[in-house]
Amino acid sequence: MQATLVVLGGTGDLAGRLLLPGLAQLVQAGALDGDVDVLAVGRDDWSEQEYREWARTRLAEHAGHVPEEAQDRLVDLLGYERGDVTAPDDLRRVLARVPGRPVVYLALPNTVFLPTLEALTEVELPEGTTIAVEKPFGRDEADARELNAVLHRLVPEERAFRTDHFLAKQTVLNVLGLRFANRLFEPVWNASHVDRVEIVFDETLGLEGRAGYYDTAGALRDMLQNHLLQQLALVAMEPPNAVDGASLSARKADVLRAVRPPADMARDTVRGRYTAGTVQGRELPDYTSEEGVDPARETETHAEFTVTIDNWRWAGVPFRLRSGKALGAGRREIAIWFKPVPHLAFGDQQLQPDVLRLGLDPDHVTLELNLNGAGEPFDLERRALDIDLPPNDLSAYGLLLREVLAGDATLSISDVEAEQSWRIVEPVLAAWSAGEVPLREYPAGSAGPDHG
Ligand SMILES: NC(=O)c1ccc[n+]([C@@H]2O[C@H](COP(=O)([O-])OP(=O)(O)OC[C@H]3O[C@@H](n4cnc5c(N)ncnc54)[C@H](OP(=O)(O)O)[C@@H]3O)[C@@H](O)[C@H]2O)c1
Repeated sequence: MQATLVVLGGTGDLAGRLLLPGLAQLVQAGALDGDVDVLAVGRDDWSEQEYREWARTRLAEHAGHVPEEAQDRLVDLLGYERGDVTAPDDLRRVLARVPGRPVVYLALPNTVFLPTLEALTEVELPEGTTIAVEKPFGRDEADARELNAVLHRLVPEERAFRTDHFLAKQTVLNVLGLRFANRLFEPVWNASHVDRVEIVFDETLGLEGRAGYYDTAGALRDMLQNHLLQQLALVAMEPPNAVDGASLSARKADVLRAVRPPADMARDTVRGRYTAGTVQGRELPDYTSEEGVDPARETETHAEFTVTIDNWRWAGVPFRLRSGKALGAGRREIAIWFKPVPHLAFGDQQLQPDVLRLGLDPDHVTLELNLNGAGEPFDLERRALDIDLPPNDLSAYGLLLREVLAGDATLSISDVEAEQSWRIVEPVLAAWSAGEVPLREYPAGSAGPDHG
């Protein structure tokens, strides 16, 4: 059936930098042939031609890897309507233009999600409408519940997408393949054998002119509440009976329900903000001097917390989640640290236990082991089995859009998952805003606040 992707916020940064390039890849792959139109909605008083020109420029900037012919074919599919997405009359007019099944994508600031969804309740949506909502899904648990309640008035849960593009990244998808298509790991994937798990997404980039959004969100809301907790859910969940939306969301929801928020905020959480410094040869100003930043908000650019999971598989195993901006190295990985062997028969050699690292961007899997080295026959040394994962044909957003358009919820966050993730994060937010944990400064280019 003909579908129209209606991009609310079609003139925004996300649309230009990630959605249009993802769509161009889908055109190139033949995934949109004849079946899909794209209608962008924005507040600019543009003609269709002017929007197409804007899109063409964004594609030239961000989709250089897609052949020009595919970019042109996408541009020919694009329509544009001016409108305020919080005004029911404007939405009614937009949707009246849509042939077939609308896939309404909220590529909007998250403060606009609720008024937009509320406005949509006053419009009669065609049968089969899908609604996709960007992240962060609300600002706290109450907000997420309210968003879910309105979404459920509009479409059934299986046609509501809460997007998290990390779920479409090769390494994150590969957690499922590695765990559930191999016999090797699952028997040791539990508290008897795993010492601790780290889920880290360190960025070398600073604010990059995004104060409008970031300064009211911060690292905890921007990264840990969604992307990192989703990775925790995939690493820690029980085996699903099938890789589909229903099974994955049930298993992920179960494990998120079992996550116990940090016990001791001063010990188990770290909150930091970068000061001026040099990152890989680039000078970065102090975060607070960036345009649009209000220092009084005390927004963190680095967030870290440790949680445990109250179930048989994981009792007592710490899961540390961490993400920060302007750090010296872009460490991005899920690291599973195994326990030491019960008895080491190799004298007093100091050996690190095994570590399995699932690296992101570039995607790779590394298993660090202790193996016989050169020289003395029983002198062990650290060796790594290292595999580079082939890049996906589609970018994370390309894949996500393909799934959303096909009505497949496998890569979506469910209503329960969204609320549970806020339940975990909320006590941290409360402790931080009450000043229970100091905001520690770290120079841009350093290893972060815990390392000075
Ligand atoms: N940018 C990224 O790299 C990125 C990555 C992942 C996820 N996201 C998520 O994607 C969403 C959008 O982010 P963004 O960076 O694209 O934000 P943005 O640049 O501020 O764009 C949002 C768009 O929404 C439009 N808009 C806001 N209020 C509107 C209204 N009442 N009626 C019609 N249009 C309205 C804006 O139009 P005006 O220009 O007229 O204000 C703009 O086109 C956010 O939830 C963000 O967290 C962004």
